[in-house]
Amino acid sequence: MFSFQLLHYLFIFLLVVCKTHALDTYIAAVYEHTVILPDVTENPVTPEEALMQMNKNIDILEKAVVEAAQKGAHIIVTPEDGIYGWNLKRESIFPYLEDIPDPQVNWIPCTDPQRFGRAPVQERLSCMAKSNHIYVVANMGDKKKCNTNDPSCPNNRYYHYNTAVVFDSDGKLITRYHKYNLFMFEEQFNQPAEPDLVIFDSPFGKFGIFICFDILFHDPAVALVSKLNVDTILFPTAWMNVLPHLSAIEFHSAWAAGMGVNFLASNLHNTSMRMTGSGIYAPDKPIDYYYNMDTEDGKLLISELNVHPRLSPSYTAINWTSYASSIADLSPTTDVFIDTIFYDEYTFATLVDAKGSLSVCQQDLCCHLSYRMVEKRQDEAYVLGVFNGLHVVEGKYYLQICTLLKCRSTNLTSCGEPTENSLTIFDEFSLSGTFSTSYVFPEVLLSGIRLAPADFQVLSDGRLISKSSISTKSVLTVTLFGRLYENDPKEQSKPQYNDE
Ligand SMILES: *[C@@H]1O[C@H](CO)[C@@H](O)[C@H](O)[C@H]1NC(C)=O
Ligand SMILES: *[C@@H]1O[C@H](CO)[C@@H](O)[C@H](O)[C@H]1NC(C)=O
Ligand SMILES: *[C@@H]1O[C@H](CO)[C@@H](O)[C@H](O)[C@H]1NC(C)=O
Repeated sequence: MFSFQLLHYLFIFLLVVCKTHALDTYIAAVYEHTVILPDVTENPVTPEEALMQMNKNIDILEKAVVEAAQKGAHIIVTPEDGIYGWNLKRESIFPYLEDIPDPQVNWIPCTDPQRFGRAPVQERLSCMAKSNHIYVVANMGDKKKCNTNDPSCPNNRYYHYNTAVVFDSDGKLITRYHKYNLFMFEEQFNQPAEPDLVIFDSPFGKFGIFICFDILFHDPAVALVSKLNVDTILFPTAWMNVLPHLSAIEFHSAWAAGMGVNFLASNLHNTSMRMTGSGIYAPDKPIDYYYNMDTEDGKLLISELNVHPRLSPSYTAINWTSYASSIADLSPTTDVFIDTIFYDEYTFATLVDAKGSLSVCQQDLCCHLSYRMVEKRQDEAYVLGVFNGLHVVEGKYYLQICTLLKCRSTNLTSCGEPTENSLTIFDEFSLSGTFSTSYVFPEVLLSGIRLAPADFQVLSDGRLISKSSISTKSVLTVTLFGRLYENDPKEQSKPQYNDE
């Protein structure tokens, strides 16, 4: 009896030891930051003034880092533009930039700050990581000298890069990623010649990193998962929400689900810029998120995640076309109309009755919906929509989208216009499509811009369905957001870099 107990304790002891050595789970933190913006100035400030400005933001980020570490977090992500803000043009951003070396140099800026010249921001971030024993992910500006032999060298003889850096828990610089897919207003930065696939290994899994607008494109975002099999994506962003399909929490959680990765999204917070929405997302559900258009408060989120989410029992691989292409009678609904969402021309059919089945098609993409509402309200209108084409505004990317959405009013010309509240409750919905891509991101957004972690699931045959437990929440949109990357134009129209 006694020896049996001893064995039992030994067994438990071994379990605990094993757990601490090869972690099954880890604790992640993301911080939504209300960035303090620099003044808009004609002439560039001095490097000292730039540093004073940046230190105001780093002071706030440091508080979040300390708190996250105290609560056991292994890693914390802070947002894009979280240190210098966004009021800077190509000339005025220069004093904010530092030369960030290739991490192969094996450098702990905290203990050797002068090794590569002036680097006060890297020094502070490194010390923050080291003294709190936590991985710190931040976004800052890198500058790289170039010369006249290089025909694309900018006039000031420096490339400027929007850069994500990671310092490990010893304060070592382990990752440097230059944003590849710059958004339209980012003329202060240069696009790197090639997209970098930047990863690192840690005791809590394999990480990949990209920034903001990168998420809409194949490289580097998709390649990090499909080629390099990362477990978790680190995602600093400065995301302006666009309804109905590109609100931060909605799209980022959908990307995690569609790609089968953990996703740590850290956004800036500024309600007048429609910037809010950070989250800690696992492939099978959003673990925690923050969305707040009422106040200007930042927010620290901390949650536990699986180290290898694709090995967890709740993870299933999905064939996005299987169900819809098996339906014998996919004859499209005849009563359809055309209207635009974010400049794309959708084909819509109205949900006339309290329950039913509808199909709408554009070329080879047919979307199928069956649904049952608790009650067909006369004061709200819902449509099923399909779009299969190249989106060309604020970036060019080929979309295949099936969407159930609430129109802003009962006037059908309002379908696709942003709307934030609804009263209609669905007992059941099942949405599927004959996609010609395997990259489909399943979105469900509820009234009041909330996610629905417990209310829906994706089946392995590609159906996005409500769970059998009857939801008491009203639906804004249920969407399968597909990307057909191979139909993207080869050359994105690139911003002009030279500062004339
Ligand atoms: C939000 O951004 C706007 C536009 O840049 C700026 O004027 C405003 O001060 C910012 N708000 C906060 C709370 O920082
Ligand atoms: C997905 O399902 C369709 C229809 O059942 C089938 O033709 C296709 O081969 C499947 N795709 C994959 C990648 O298994
Ligand atoms: C619907 O909205 C359009 C555009 O705002 C307007 O021209 C039309 O008169 C409206 N229809 C009804 C029935 O109110």
